[in-house]
Formats: sequence, C-alpha cells, structure tokens
Amino acid sequence: MYKFIIEGGKSLKGKVKVKGSKNSALPILAATLLCEDEFVIDNVPILRDILTMQKVLEVLGASVSIESNRVKVDTRGAVGYEAPYELVRQMRASYYVLGPLLARHGRALVSLPGGCAIGTRPINLHILGLKRLKADISITHGYIDAYGNKLRGSCIFLEGPNGPSVGATVNVMTAATLAKGLTIIEGAAMEPEVTDVANFLNKCGAKIKGQGTRRIEIRGVKKLHGCEYEIIPDRIEAGTLALGAAISRGEVFLEGARQDHLQSFLDKLREVGVDIFVEKDGIAVKMDKDILSTDIETAPFPGFPTDMQAQFTALLCLANGVSIVREKIFEERFMHVMELARMGADIRRESDYVVIKGVPCLYGTTVMASDLRASAALVLAGLSASGTTEVRRIYHIDRGYENIEERLRKLGAQIWRQEE
Ligand code: EPU
Repeated sequence: MYKFIIEGGKSLKGKVKVKGSKNSALPILAATLLCEDEFVIDNVPILRDILTMQKVLEVLGASVSIESNRVKVDTRGAVGYEAPYELVRQMRASYYVLGPLLARHGRALVSLPGGCAIGTRPINLHILGLKRLKADISITHGYIDAYGNKLRGSCIFLEGPNGPSVGATVNVMTAATLAKGLTIIEGAAMEPEVTDVANFLNKCGAKIKGQGTRRIEIRGVKKLHGCEYEIIPDRIEAGTLALGAAISRGEVFLEGARQDHLQSFLDKLREVGVDIFVEKDGIAVKMDKDILSTDIETAPFPGFPTDMQAQFTALLCLANGVSIVREKIFEERFMHVMELARMGADIRRESDYVVIKGVPCLYGTTVMASDLRASAALVLAGLSASGTTEVRRIYHIDRGYENIEERLRKLGAQIWRQEE
C-alpha cells in the first residue's frame, strides 16, 4: 500500500501533455473481442484499470502487449466467454465485454460487479437494451448469463431516471454492430467517450451514425476487422490538472486538451475567476486572483461532469463566499466531503448537495482516499494546503491517473509516493 506525501503551497507552472482517455480506452479494448484480428491502439493511458482490462482480455484468450502508451491486441485465440468475479470486482467496467462477447460468440457469462463507493450503479439498462436485441439474459449465481446467437436490430429507448447511461449505450451499440438489421438507440449518451468508441467501431467496419447525439443508428454488418486507432485525450485528467493550476494559483498549459469536450467545466472555471486561453493545440489555465464562489449541478454531457464534481468542490472550499454543489448522477459521490472538512473546509452535506462556505486556507493532515475522483480532490486540496498532507489508500487514484505524482512534480508540486 502506498500513500502520497504533499508539501502544499507551490504553484503549478509549465506544460503537460494530457494522457489518453481511460473511459474511452476501456470499452475500446473490450470491443476488440468483436472479431478475430489484430489491433493497435495508441494513446492508451497506462493505469490500473487498463491493466485490469488487459487481464480480462487475456482470461478470454486474447494476447495483449503494452509498449509505452501503445497497446497491441490479438484476438485470434479469444474463444472464452466468461469474465470472472475476481476481475470484475476490481473494476466495474469489465462489464464492457458483455456486448462484444454476446455479439461474437452468442454467449457471455459476466460477473455482476457488486457494490460501489459512489452509489448503487444498477445495470438494468444494459440488460434491457441487449434483451431488445433478442438476447436471452438471466442473472444466476451472481453472474449475467447471456445467450444470443441471432441478435436482431431493434429500436430502444435507453434513458434511466438520472438520464442516459454511458455504459449501456456503449454495450448495446457494440453488440448491435453485428446484429441483423437496424438498431436505433434513442436517449443515447452523448459523452465524447461514446463517440470515440463509435468512431473506433466504424474504423473496424461497423456502420454507426449519430454518435454524439441523442439518437444513434447502427446498421448491423456480418463481420468486423482489426485496425489502428488513437484514443482521444482524457477530459477528466485535463480538468483535474486545470484545477491543480487554479487551486495552487499557477499557470499551466494543457497540451491536447479539447474545448469541445470541456465546455461546461471551462465556463465554471471562468465564473470563479480563472483565466482560460483556448489555443490550437491545447488550453492554458492561469489563476492569480481570489477564487469566487459558484453553484454547480452535475449532468450528462454536455453538462457539468460528475467526474469533476469532487475536484471542483476542493477548489470551492477556498472561494470567497458560499457555493452549492449538487450531484445528480451518483447519489453517494460525496466521500471527499468529510476528508476536506478534516483539512479545515467549512462544508456540509445535505441529501444530494453540499454547501461550502469558503475559507482562506486549508491545512495539511492525514486523509483517506475512498474512490478515484475523491482521491484526486484530496490531492488538489493538499497542493494548496499549508503544511504536509498525507493521502492514504492511493490505489484508488492509480486506477484512473497515470503517474499523477510524477506529472504534478514536473509542474513544480512537492508530492512523493511512500510505502504505508
Ligand atoms: N444507470 C441506471 N441503469 C443502468 C446504468 C446506469 O439507472 O443500467 C444510472 C446510473 O446509476 C447513473 C446514471 O445512469 O445514475 C449514469 O450512469 P452511467 O451508466 O452513464 O455510468 P457508467 O457507464 O457506469 C461511466 C464512467 C464513469 C462516469 C459515468 C457518467 C466508465 C468506465 N465510467 O460510468 O466514470 O462517472 O459514466 O459520466 O466510463 C470515473 O471515471 O471516475 C467514473 C466513475
């Protein structure tokens, strides 16, 4: 077990290249199971969830090799159809193999993921969508047991009570690439990661239209083939580093960051006083003023991303005034709140929102990471805090950020990894 030691008070300064998107790379790697061929996927962030997906693919018989940020996958020997509990419990996104396995083998046995720190996270929409493609699905002994030798296109409304589902849209879209006829997904998720998966699938020979809108059309084809593909930059990593610059009163150029993926987040940053300069090859972020308060409500894309909620909350702890942050996607995504309070934040949770009264400064202490984005929020708080912050259980942050401490150190932060 490792922890981070952070000496706060250093401004982040310099240039950093944004890594590839975790939440694109995971379903794209899973989708290689749709055919027997070779793939080269570039700009893959090498972090713990990707290594878990590597293991899932290997258990299913694929061979995977990783060289810096390039992943080669050979699915010619991938005949397995079972994703076991041991791997799925380490990473929910393992369920992304469900659609591809069903479409290619007509059979999938995928463990149910179990509990999650950020909310209940049901998978009813994944199952509903695949059933509409004429798959036969039951839940037995903790597994999703699916058969579907003759998947057929269908018209499906995929929205749940909290809006569209990224995972269900991707699983159904992926399975539909090999289903007979036309599938229409209404109420589809519009996240850039969904578009990236669709673009990858089209490069493999799929016929998908409408990605990036609420209606995606998939015309089934008989067979797909391997390809070379480059993953989009990670908007959440970019946003987290932008907040690092803001909270430490620094100036950072985020090479590769895309305005079209970050608009609602950038607008909120501007609102609290951060200067943003959008350039051809990235985005510059500069903060040299008092932080202003604001209100935030998370929403599906293009709204403010739930994956940035905890990190933005850390910034608002230091704002001039009162802010309200409402979480509309994952009801329990507030694991950072009590830890920020331990660092001196004036913050309290009320059902699905938190009220934050800004304080002039946070103080270093020992805090506990509890999920991926909550951990990132604590690291950001530590960068600005007076004194030393110890963030424990950092395996959570390693799930979604590649070498975060090294990247922050290059920007001037004083942060080290130590064995606990
Ligand atoms: N939902 C249902 N039924 C379903 C699926 C989802 O009701 O069958 C609900 C969820 O409970 C939630 C809402 O729909 O209230 C949206 O969930 P979604 O399915 O979109 O989330 P996900 O696909 O499980 C992905 C990301 C998350 C990110 C969300 C929302 C991956 C691997 N995960 O999760 O990323 O927060 O979309 O944008 O892509 C992270 O990276 O830290 C992370 C949690």
